[in-house]
Amino acid sequence: MEFESTMYTFKDAYHNQVFLSFEKNPFSKTPRHVWVVCRYENQWLLTNHSKRGLEFPGGKLEGNEVPEEAAVREVFEETGGEVSSLTYIGQYKVVSKGKTIIKNIYFATIGNVIKKEDYMETDGPVMIDELPSGIQQDDAYSFIMKDNVLQYVMKYVKRTFL
Ligand code: GTP
Repeated sequence: MEFESTMYTFKDAYHNQVFLSFEKNPFSKTPRHVWVVCRYENQWLLTNHSKRGLEFPGGKLEGNEVPEEAAVREVFEETGGEVSSLTYIGQYKVVSKGKTIIKNIYFATIGNVIKKEDYMETDGPVMIDELPSGIQQDDAYSFIMKDNVLQYVMKYVKRTFL
């Protein structure tokens, strides 16, 4: 399949170099970040980050967590969504001012969205039918939704899971 064998490379919204691959652990077996494309009852489940805006939930591993544990925790913290299934999709690497971060990407099916008092650094869940086509110019959306990671990942998700 085209996706699995290709290494994609492009610049993000801040002109940082990004590398994306749909292989198993192409950049690191121990990534420190996760990002989770969430599907809840035929909609996309996003979080509204108080500074960055709308994005799929994710973040950094804590303590001795494995990436899958961080993915489930971050989705719940930022949206109240309870993950009922989680599938690895791929990994991306961002090189930013000499620092490199590596994120695992997952697809999650959400069984339930619990109402909470506290959504950490976000304003909680946002459900939408379709991501806007002009997302790169849309101030409501986070910079992490504005590079080609999102475009390739959504194609992959639609082909694989929907
Ligand atoms: P701290 O220790 O909390 O500072 O985290 P960190 O250094 O491991 O990573 P941080 O989340 O601060 O990310 C560092 C930089 O990587 C950010 O300033 C962004 O430029 C970039 N970055 C992080 N996540 C993403 C992402 O999902 N997409 C893109 N394009 N860039 C990202």
